[in-house]
Amino acid sequence: MKRKWIIRAVLILAAAVALFVSARILLWRSKKTTVTDPEYVLFYAENQTADYPTTLGAQKFADLVYERTGGRIKILVRYDAELGSESEVIKQMMYGGIAFARVSLSQLAEYVPEMNVLQMPYIYSSSEHMWRVLDGSIGDEFLLKTRDYGLVGLSWYDAGARNFYSTEPIKCLEDLEGMVIRVQESDVMADMVSALKATPVKIVYSDVYSAIERGIVDGAENNWPSYEAMNHYNVAGFYTIDEHTRVPELQICSKAVWDKLDESDRRVLEQCARESAVYQRQLWQEREKSSRKIAESAGVTVIELSKDEKMRFRDAMSSVYTKYCGDRMDLLNTIIEY
Ligand code: GCU
Repeated sequence: MKRKWIIRAVLILAAAVALFVSARILLWRSKKTTVTDPEYVLFYAENQTADYPTTLGAQKFADLVYERTGGRIKILVRYDAELGSESEVIKQMMYGGIAFARVSLSQLAEYVPEMNVLQMPYIYSSSEHMWRVLDGSIGDEFLLKTRDYGLVGLSWYDAGARNFYSTEPIKCLEDLEGMVIRVQESDVMADMVSALKATPVKIVYSDVYSAIERGIVDGAENNWPSYEAMNHYNVAGFYTIDEHTRVPELQICSKAVWDKLDESDRRVLEQCARESAVYQRQLWQEREKSSRKIAESAGVTVIELSKDEKMRFRDAMSSVYTKYCGDRMDLLNTIIEY
């Protein structure tokens, strides 16, 4: 009798343990599929530093997408050009090797030549002017145009105005003559510098500091935040404000990746990219000011070109307009007057 009771107790205990274990497994699995198990893990390439406005915008995009897909799409932002130079990244994206990136339009236009018209020198009178163009139907059409080249344009990020900086002051057109100036890996930028009678050298962004330091170039051109974030102000102490270009940035997705996603996920990506752009543009305003302050307090000499001198720089651009927009002069003029 006693033995029977012992056997019953052991069986009840075993059943309770089995029930407890299977309940834990079920709980663990359901947690795993709803929260911690992404369906897609996708890389995002960025060539700026961790605290740069475009990198913070990228992280905002990744966080929004994760939240709105309930953790199904996880985007890993890799900054400091860890995934390669902009040009290498764009090429890989065309085949689906990297899912997302933020790139400078100058670099993208090397692969999507229609974009060149948006980066012609001296065409925007102000930041507001450029945003009227990009936030309107012209900007939307250009985002769509990327699809012909294996990419999907998602949103526009701000990169302010670009100016020259150098080891010797540039106060007028003649000062540029004979100088060696670093440009992006972009034909338009190289031709612009040649039209100003300086010699352009194409150098990847991450190598600009050492090229100036070693005297390979006399200077470069970029916006305030890049000049400061990459410490170029330590090796090129004269910054000439001529605002020759406003080159916006784009958030792009690889079309090979895009085509695998369903329609609702694509809408989420588009919406999150646009929201991250609003955030990035706010950060940009603040960073432009703080970067200038940092450079000025480090002793940088800021040179403001007079209106007349700026006009001389602009007048030198007609050959660039004809070469890159000869067959699109109507569009160029529409943009200038927008
Ligand atoms: C800007 C832009 C970068 C680009 C760089 C350059 O800083 O944000 O994406 O690489 O210009 O001059 O190469």
